[in-house]
Amino acid sequence: MRILIINGPNLNLLGKREPDQYGSLTLWDLENRLKEKFSGVKLEFYQSNSEGGLIDSIHKAADGSAAGVVMNPGAYSHYSYAIRDAIASINVPVIEVHLTNVHAREEFRQTSVTAAACKGVIAGFGAESYELALKYLIDLHKGT
Ligand code: DQA
Repeated sequence: MRILIINGPNLNLLGKREPDQYGSLTLWDLENRLKEKFSGVKLEFYQSNSEGGLIDSIHKAADGSAAGVVMNPGAYSHYSYAIRDAIASINVPVIEVHLTNVHAREEFRQTSVTAAACKGVIAGFGAESYELALKYLIDLHKGT
């Protein structure tokens, strides 16, 4: 089983970026933690600060018949119709995740234009948001 974990802009700076908001784990720590906890699954990681790269990686999830995608689109969640369309264009379940509870933050973060194209959204649990999404996708794939 293959699952893609896609991270959008500025998430490469985790650990350094606004630690009060996003915590002290780096993206590398986060990815390693997921690899350890989900060692039975082939996890593929991708991060980009650009919209085009993120869209290409979403398309690739469909090419290689991934079981699912866990995606944190970062600030693109709030305004990228192109990423929303990319998610809607593939036949693979995508779970949107956020480290923070975007609904409890600035008003512009309380809208996600990408969420409606996703199977579901998990926000506010730090690194555990990714774990909960992975658990769901694995259960979905197994049919449990
Ligand atoms: C974020 C929330 C977004 O509003 C923000 O732009 C991010 C991170 C989160 O994981 O909480 O880059 O997606």
